[in-house]
Amino acid sequence: MALTDSEVLLLMGPPGAGKGTQASKLARARKLTKLSTGDMLRDHVARGTELGKEAKAIMDAGELVSDDIIVGMVRSAIEGRDTEGVRVLLDGFPRTPGQADALEELLQAFDASLSAAVLLEVNEDELVSRLLQRAQEQGRSDDNEDTIRTRMRVYKEQTQPLIDYYQGRGKLRKVDGLGSVEDVFARITEVLS
Ligand code: AP5
Repeated sequence: MALTDSEVLLLMGPPGAGKGTQASKLARARKLTKLSTGDMLRDHVARGTELGKEAKAIMDAGELVSDDIIVGMVRSAIEGRDTEGVRVLLDGFPRTPGQADALEELLQAFDASLSAAVLLEVNEDELVSRLLQRAQEQGRSDDNEDTIRTRMRVYKEQTQPLIDYYQGRGKLRKVDGLGSVEDVFARITEVLS
């Protein structure tokens, strides 16, 4: 595949669905640049930047960082890419209708368009169990019961409407996110073929 060919994939799903895990594998397999807004924000927090200071309390509460900050971060990352075509895998973005509209405009400006939005479906008991397990293993500051509850609510209120948005555009690909990481990856590869 020539690196001048554009490919823009989104990985969507509730907290703990496996977006980050699958995004890394998929990016490697399809030679895409992974853009994870959660990772970018955690990097800002770790470096103590102004943006990181602003974002930390919001992330620890499980709420969403403002569309302006998020869209600005993604825009600079896409502008800074080193291939001719736009070849990106978006993990955790867009998360609001405003972000989805901004992405569409951004891609138009680069003469690119969305290839597919992959939705990982996992039931809530499994999601909570994965996140509490990660809390024990890694101690991520938003993996505690109160914040997990808020993250789930925020997902339902602000991000779930995007499922219809992408369905209506014929871009949505639903994937069962239960099972081993390899099984889920095989299902994603299948819906993208
Ligand atoms: P973000 O980092 O995007 O968090 P999230 O959406 O809550 O997702 P997670 O990282 O918890 O889960 P995931 O679906 O990526 O699953 P993972 O692969 O890690 O965002 C964090 C915060 O940043 C947000 O709350 C918000 O404040 C802010 N933010 C980020 N983007 C934003 C945006 N666009 N707009 C506004 N604010 C934004 O897996 C989870 C666990 O499960 C891991 O331990 C993993 O090892 C395990 N696992 C993965 N796959 C499997 C499997 N198949 N079976 C068993 N376990 C598995």
